[in-house]
Amino acid sequence: MTLRTPERADIAALAVSSADLIASLQDDSGAYPASPTFSAYRGYSWFRDGAFIADAMSSAGRAESAERFFDWCADVVVAHDDDIAAIVGAAGTSSPAPDSAMLATRFTLDGRVGDDDWWDFQLDGYGTWLWAVAEHVRRHGGDAARWGRAIALTVDYLASSWRRPCFDWWEEHAEHVHVSTLGCIAAGLRAAAALRVLDADRQALAESAADDVERLMRSTGVANGHLSKWLGSPAVDGSLAAVVGVLDVVPAASDIGAATISAIERDLTVDGGVHRFLDDTFFGGGQWPLLSCFLGIAHARAGDRDRAAELLAWAFSTAETDGTMPEQVGRHLLDPTMVDEWVERWGPVALPLLWSHAMFIRLAVELDGELIHQLGAPQGATREATA
Ligand code: BGC
Repeated sequence: MTLRTPERADIAALAVSSADLIASLQDDSGAYPASPTFSAYRGYSWFRDGAFIADAMSSAGRAESAERFFDWCADVVVAHDDDIAAIVGAAGTSSPAPDSAMLATRFTLDGRVGDDDWWDFQLDGYGTWLWAVAEHVRRHGGDAARWGRAIALTVDYLASSWRRPCFDWWEEHAEHVHVSTLGCIAAGLRAAAALRVLDADRQALAESAADDVERLMRSTGVANGHLSKWLGSPAVDGSLAAVVGVLDVVPAASDIGAATISAIERDLTVDGGVHRFLDDTFFGGGQWPLLSCFLGIAHARAGDRDRAAELLAWAFSTAETDGTMPEQVGRHLLDPTMVDEWVERWGPVALPLLWSHAMFIRLAVELDGELIHQLGAPQGATREATA
């Protein structure tokens, strides 16, 4: 398929309408719904999706929206302070908390655990929200003490539990320790330490735990020179583009970063569309625009802006005529026999998916900081975008 190369005005228009869409769907509580309509996601907000959405809104100068999401995260974490104390207390003993007692990956928009069964034990989002707060404070200033108690509790939780296997970004394989999960945790612990809102003991805890996580990633989490899907796996996963890109845990231009980008291009990318992983069968295993954008940010940080722009153009091409962006598209499916089963189970692919819109914004801003002025931000609102 031949793609039209979007003009700068086209990119700006989709970025603006994406930010407006996200703002219009943000709940009064501050939560970002993953998708307002998709049957399995409706009514829930994920720490993972939401943290990246908040980072995109923050990068687009929509500071208040991001802060309202952080307020929501902080309220959720603080509401679980007793659970966290129990988890931390039991960690390292002969009877650690069972997976079912660990914090959930998603909550209802009003911050409750929700009644639907889910693959809930996922650690990555607790790192990612800390990272997003620090990115936001770096751009816009302000005092992270507003979220201080929740940041401290999240550090305790992650430092006590990061070695545990859990479900990954794709809510699969709870038996493994996933390298992109470790990357999110390392980014979050480093970010928490950088915010300077922790007491001295926790500050030291966050720093030493981040060191330990990174050491493990760089030893057991590397295969054939690239980051691997889980500890001991030879495979790559699309989520690893975030670890070497926007999260900047492994620099994109380093040997491991470059090898990870190459492996994702080689094994998971067709045209500019990126698959999650090779065995993916969810809705037939299509291509995810949000992953094209994560990969684009990684390329941009490694210095290849041309490839990053191609990936942005590919993500642009997935937008419907009304400007909504899907979770995935079926132009190249890894297992076409699995489409019907998922459609019967959950209905058509999620559309819109707010995380797709967010990553489009985030890569657009990464490539063109001046675009920020068209995104509704006051002039000079962000140091990063106007530098
Ligand atoms: C994806 C998750 C995502 C969730 C909500 C799932 O299908 O695997 O990564 O958090 O949808 O968007």
